[in-house]
Amino acid sequence: MQIGIESLSFYIPHLFIDLKAIAEKKNAPAKVFYRGIGQEKMAVAPPDEDIISMGANAAWQACQTVDTAKIDTLFFATESGVDQSKAAGVYVHRLLQLSPNCRTVELKQACYSGTAALQMATGWIRQHPDSKVLIVMSDIARYGLSSAGEPTQGAGSVAMVISAEAKILYLEPFFGLYCEDVMDFWRPNYLDYALVDGKYSISVYIKALQSCWNQYKQQSGYSFSDFARFCYHLPFSKMAEKAHHELAKLENLALPVAELDKKIEKGLLYNRIIGNIYTASLYMGLISMLENSDEELSDKRLAFFSYGSGCVAEFFSGMVMKNFQSNLPIARHRDLLKNRIELNYQQYAEYYNFSLPVDGSTLSLDRISRGKFRLKGIRNHMRLYE
Ligand code: HMG
Repeated sequence: MQIGIESLSFYIPHLFIDLKAIAEKKNAPAKVFYRGIGQEKMAVAPPDEDIISMGANAAWQACQTVDTAKIDTLFFATESGVDQSKAAGVYVHRLLQLSPNCRTVELKQACYSGTAALQMATGWIRQHPDSKVLIVMSDIARYGLSSAGEPTQGAGSVAMVISAEAKILYLEPFFGLYCEDVMDFWRPNYLDYALVDGKYSISVYIKALQSCWNQYKQQSGYSFSDFARFCYHLPFSKMAEKAHHELAKLENLALPVAELDKKIEKGLLYNRIIGNIYTASLYMGLISMLENSDEELSDKRLAFFSYGSGCVAEFFSGMVMKNFQSNLPIARHRDLLKNRIELNYQQYAEYYNFSLPVDGSTLSLDRISRGKFRLKGIRNHMRLYE
């Protein structure tokens, strides 16, 4: 029995803004972002796309090759929740016409909750090897317009099916965990964008990594050289470079930077042109790594560092399955990345400032998104999807 990821897919909106437009607005050169934080573009969600429609689009793709009758648990991980009571996953459950015998809940702990879902799913499958668990991670990262966090926004979803028939990656049992009550990044219920102490958040991320790594190393007995590649939570791609270099320092490894970067660089490609998608960022990095590596990764060990501000973090690992590439919808992913439309700053700001009515009035939304599922409007405080 190899418990792990049986299928894996992402979905992103077809709109993006190039960070040079944001730099221009700040009278700064594009390299402030291109080089400074390692980001080029970020995905922008139009009004008829939200965490539920994006999540359903990713999940639909991830379910194409799976016996969906066996899915008896659906975890929806997000920090962009649209309802304080009803789980976003319940809408996805209906849109995908899953079995009514399905436990469906929403999970939250900043960018970490997708990993919590993954660990809970493996525990469930260990007890019920015939079951499958659908995990949807979906977020729209929002910081204030003109704030320092603005270039680190993004939008998108990753969905995966966890089962005892891993076809992409199986999970090893070792872990390193870290939790500390810190105010590095948070979003009070009355705000629709996050507040952040940027520099502090970077230092807590590194501190959490060091602590998780020490516990993981002790438990597993593995060392740095046992990993073919490292995947980090990606608020922006330079964060992974900083983290990876710190980890090497912790291990007293004096490796050339190019050699260190080789272990992470293919995992950064999608993040660089999509942006931070919070819960799904780490797993978008995994997809980027698997779809772009020029070296054979089958049977190789990958390291994962998941970080959610506030904070909870985890270091864990997995082994890549043989023929993993034939089980990824690579052509579909490439189409999503290739067929995008660039927005200028004004168009981006208009979408940023759009909000749904909060007084119960009815609104029908024009179709802008290209996904199979979309938000078609709102009536009596209820979101309507098609
Ligand atoms: P900032 O104030 O724009 O950046 O904030 P800076 O002034 O520190 O510059 C950033 C880098 O650009 C620096 O390099 C500069 O030297 C360089 P570093 O010292 O870091 O190596 N730079 C240039 N390079 C080349 N040419 C130039 C140039 N100018 C400057 N001309 C910050 C950056 C990331 C802090 C900000 O965007 C922010 O607050 N973002 C949001 C917070 C964040 O992403 N934190 C990451 C860790 S926390 C986390 O990952 C959790 C999170 O995903 C949320 C969750 O869990 O839900 C965020």
